[in-house]
Amino acid sequence: MMNQELEKYIRSIKNFPKDGIDFKDITTLLKDPKGLLQTGNALYDFAKEIPIDKVVGIESRGFFYGPLLAMKLQAGFVPIRKTGKLPAETVHQTYALEYGSDTIEVHKDAIAPGDKILLHDDLLATGGTARAACDLIEKAGGEIVQISFIIELAFLNAREKFEGYDLRTLIRYDKE
Ligand code: PRP
Ligand code: MG
Repeated sequence: MMNQELEKYIRSIKNFPKDGIDFKDITTLLKDPKGLLQTGNALYDFAKEIPIDKVVGIESRGFFYGPLLAMKLQAGFVPIRKTGKLPAETVHQTYALEYGSDTIEVHKDAIAPGDKILLHDDLLATGGTARAACDLIEKAGGEIVQISFIIELAFLNAREKFEGYDLRTLIRYDKE
């Protein structure tokens, strides 16, 4: 665990959404004025020295801090959404889940070729979602300059999927 100060705001819920999963709940962090602010500041500190054109947030929990970070970095905000939600022309990416698959999308005109992108989500678990988001952003022509998360479930070894990327996390759980 890297940040004990912030870890205390996270609530763990056993067997949610299914048996055997220890769910990391960030709503207890978000509702606390200090937890909300310190987390936002720490995510901003990761990125403040890097030129960033757009912060891309992943639906839905990547929408809590994505726009806040974008405002502080004086960048734009772009949502990656689950399939069928975006009204204009999209680029999409399908990725494997434990059972079946999922698809995420971004508007075709949301990312300009060469845009410097900060990708943000709340939690890195298997890394499947963020990996698909990277592929999607790169397909659209964006250059990913940083990927940030509040929480990393390090025992799932998702970092292997992001070699060569600047991947930052605030709270790390080394075991289940
Ligand atoms: C959770 C979490 C991440 C993703 C991490 O989102 O918010 O986006 O799973 O898992 P992975 O690293 O194994 O891909 P979820 O799909 O539950 O949806 P939500 O954000 O809408 O709650
Ligand atoms: Mg999510």
